[in-house]
Amino acid sequence: MALLAQCAAGLTLLTVCGALPVAMPLWLGIFLQGLLAAVYGAYWGMASWWRWIHALFPLAVWAMFSWHLPSEWYLLGFVLSVSLYWTSFRTQVPFFPSRPVVWQQVAQLLAPHQALRLIDIGSGLGDMPMHIAKSRPRSQVEGIEIAPLPWLISVLRAKFRRSDVSFRLGDYRALNFVDYDVIFAYLSPAAMLALWDKAQLEMRPGSLLISLEFDIPGVQPSRCLQSAQGSPALYVWEMT
Ligand SMILES: C[S@@+](CC[C@H](N)C(=O)[O-])C[C@H]1O[C@@H](n2cnc3c(N)ncnc32)[C@H](O)[C@@H]1O
Repeated sequence: MALLAQCAAGLTLLTVCGALPVAMPLWLGIFLQGLLAAVYGAYWGMASWWRWIHALFPLAVWAMFSWHLPSEWYLLGFVLSVSLYWTSFRTQVPFFPSRPVVWQQVAQLLAPHQALRLIDIGSGLGDMPMHIAKSRPRSQVEGIEIAPLPWLISVLRAKFRRSDVSFRLGDYRALNFVDYDVIFAYLSPAAMLALWDKAQLEMRPGSLLISLEFDIPGVQPSRCLQSAQGSPALYVWEMT
């Protein structure tokens, strides 16, 4: 779809350029190519963040041809992108971190002094579980992450900070949720229905499923917290 939007923009631009009496300056061509692709992308229903990618892509192509960077840089960029985003083309859940205000909200939701088993499914760089573990030494706090680079960073950070959180590399869909009192998820709309089906099958009554930003269509949460600092909502389902 993205490629189609860029091609459609290129064809439109070529048609317009052909009809013009004077040559279009390069900078204007680059700008219009990005703008048109963003408009086509939006028209075809692509997510809003694609507009920025479409707008910047022609500039990146121009930079690639004019800067003549050694090809190793592209390989490095590719390897870094793959190890950060891994299978997000399949899971539809890319990496983007939650903010400290959210970690504090999650900590406040939990019963104080109770030893809990909590996991962040898709733990990214590991901040949320490490924050919880700091104030709950009796609890067992874990993270599971499918992408190697964020997982490795979370393991190194936990070692460096002497945190007790255990981070494992893997797919949360292969876990058994029955083992946990609290499951924290910051995923994407695409993952929520399957997550709910799994939670209903496996989570014990009284355990909590917490989702940042993304609700479960048609399922009323037990609580919904909105932070004053403009961060996204936190949805909580107490399993029955
Ligand atoms: C939006 S980020 C959230 C990161 C972290 N929980 C936080 O709050 O900062 C979602 C993370 O889930 C990971 N992820 C996506 N699908 C997964 C899966 N099936 N199993 C484990 N991790 C997954 C992604 O690689 C990504 O790092």
